[in-house]
Amino acid sequence: MTKRALITGITGQDGSYLAELLLKRGYEVHGLVRRVALEDPANRLSRIDDFRDQLHLHAGSLESFPSLFAVVNAVQPDELYHLGAQSFVSYSFEDAFSTFRTNIDGTHFVLESVKQTCPGCRVYFAGSSEMFGHVKATPQDENTPFHPRSPYGISKVTGFDLSRNYREAYGMFISCGILFNHESPRRGFEFVTRKITSHVAKIKHGLADTLPLGNLEAKRDWGFAGDYVEAMYLMVQQETASDFVVATGETHTVREFCEQAFAAVDLDYRDYVTENPEFYRPAEVHLLLGDAGKAKAELNWEPTCRFDRLVEMMIDADMELIRQQRTGTSAGE
Ligand code: NAP
Ligand code: GDD
Repeated sequence: MTKRALITGITGQDGSYLAELLLKRGYEVHGLVRRVALEDPANRLSRIDDFRDQLHLHAGSLESFPSLFAVVNAVQPDELYHLGAQSFVSYSFEDAFSTFRTNIDGTHFVLESVKQTCPGCRVYFAGSSEMFGHVKATPQDENTPFHPRSPYGISKVTGFDLSRNYREAYGMFISCGILFNHESPRRGFEFVTRKITSHVAKIKHGLADTLPLGNLEAKRDWGFAGDYVEAMYLMVQQETASDFVVATGETHTVREFCEQAFAAVDLDYRDYVTENPEFYRPAEVHLLLGDAGKAKAELNWEPTCRFDRLVEMMIDADMELIRQQRTGTSAGE
C-alpha cells in the first residue's frame, strides 16, 4: 500500500530534499505551506518547483493549532516529518518571542494533532546541534548535555523535551534527529556558507567587491543536506523510536570555509573578507563537532560528501546561477 508522508517546512532546504527522496521511494507526499507561499509560488515555492505537480500542498501555519489539526486530520499520514521552524539563529536574538511561538508552540501543536487524530503515525522531530551550545564535551553525541546559547537553541531543546515526553507518556513513535549544520545549493542566503558562496560568485563576476562577515573563528561540522535527509528517513523506518546525532565528524572554521571557497575561483579571501561586529551574536556557539557513531551503527548511515566537495558544489551552483541570470537562461535550456 502506498505510504503517506506529511512534511512541515517542505519549502525549506531540507523539506525539498526530503520530499524528493520520499517521492523516489513511492510515497504520497503532502506538505504544509503558509498561505502566502501558495499566493506567491514563483518566489516562495522555488525549491520544490521542479516536482510541485507531484506534491499535495496544504495551507496552514505552525502558529495556528486549528490549521495544523485540520491538515493532520485530513491527511492521516503514516509518517510526519516536522521540519518547519524559524531556523535562523541570529534572528532568534532579535525576536525570541516569535521564534518560541513558531518552534515551541508549533512543535506542541504538531504533536498534539498527531496524538488526537492519528496516534499511530511515526514522527520525526528536527532537533539541532545548536542544542549543545556551550559544549560540555567534544565530540558531541547523544549523551552530551545541552547548554543552548540562543533563543533558537532553547526552542529546539524544548521541542526535543516535548517530543520525548509525548513518546514516553503516550507511547507515540517520535524520533529526534540531532543534526549538525548541513548545507547545499538550496541553503538560505542568510546562513554563513551560502552567504560566502553567493558573494564569491558575485565578486568573481564583478558584481560585488567585499564580503562582510562576523566571527571567522567559529567552528562547525558542515555536511550535505541530501545526506542528512536520508538519515531522517532511516530514523523513521526503525522498529523503535530513538534519538540520533547526524554529523560528519569533521570541523572547520568559517575562515577555512572562506579560504576554500575563494580559492575555488582563484581568489584570496583576505582581499575581500572583512570582519564586521554587526554580525557578531550576543552569545556565540564556538565549536561544534559531532560523533555520529550511533547513526552509523544502527541506521547504517554514512555521510557521502566531505567538506571540500561541499564547498565546491555550492560554489559551482552559485557561479552557474549568476551565469544564468546574466544570459537569461536556466539549467536545461
Ligand atoms: P529552512 O530552510 O529555514 O526551512 C524552514 C521551513 O519552515 C520553511 O519551509 C518555512 O516556510 C517553514 N516555516 C517557518 N515558519 C513557519 C510557520 N510559522 N508556519 C509554517 N511553516 C513555517 O530550514 P532547513 O535548513 O530546511 O531546516 C529544517 C529543520 O531542521 C528546521 O527545523 C531547522 O531548525 C532544523 N535544523 C536545520 C539544520 C541545518 O543545518 N540546516 C541543522 C539542524 C536542525 P517558508 O518557506 O514559508 O518560510
Ligand atoms: N549567518 C552568519 N552570517 N553567520 C556568520 C557570519 C555571517 O555573516 N559570520 C560569521 N558567522 C558564524 C556564526 O556566528 C556562526 O558561528 C557560524 O558562522 C554559522 O552560522 P550560520 O550559518 O548562521 O548557522 P548556525 O550554526 O548559527 O545555525 C545553523 O545550524 C544549526 C545546527 O547547528 C542553522 O541551520 C540552524 O537552524 C541549525 O539548527
